[in-house]
Amino acid sequence: MPRDLGIDVATFRKECRLFDLLDDSGRLRMMDAAEHAAYADGAIVVREGDPGDAMYVIRGGTVRVVIDALEGEKEVARLGPGSFFGEMSVVLGEPRSATVIAVGAVDAWRFGRPSIDGILADYPRVREALARLSLKRSELTLEKMMESDAADSGPDDEPGDADA
Ligand code: CMP
Repeated sequence: MPRDLGIDVATFRKECRLFDLLDDSGRLRMMDAAEHAAYADGAIVVREGDPGDAMYVIRGGTVRVVIDALEGEKEVARLGPGSFFGEMSVVLGEPRSATVIAVGAVDAWRFGRPSIDGILADYPRVREALARLSLKRSELTLEKMMESDAADSGPDDEPGDADA
């Protein structure tokens, strides 16, 4: 064990399916890069528009993923134990696509750059998997944004309906 995270590599592997795509040497590197991060209810873990300095794996608790839509804050997803987030800006080199907020107490692993960049450079399979998921997530976010735009135009028609 490179660093004492209080768990062995086999236990670490079970915490996130992403770790299955690495070999033991890669998993040990991830363990070496992992920092324990704990958040209280309502804490902002990453903020939309900020540079991506890390990605996270949720060990316990739930987070809300929200975007700044036309009509205000819009929730696009909730993620729980075993899920990861913050990968999009790390892989795509873009600012944070959303704000991630703790719902209740959240326990996570934080993988800072440049450690994560080094690992992803040596495991292109993992980088590709993250890039594919990032695209799916941006599509989903866009869909949610359109949904809210459509919902927005609905009430505008209502006064006319009421007059009829
Ligand atoms: P990143 O853009 O670095 O920071 C915000 C994170 O929210 C993003 O990475 C993803 O991990 C996550 N995220 C954004 N959109 C979605 C979505 N539609 N579903 C799940 N997670 C998302």
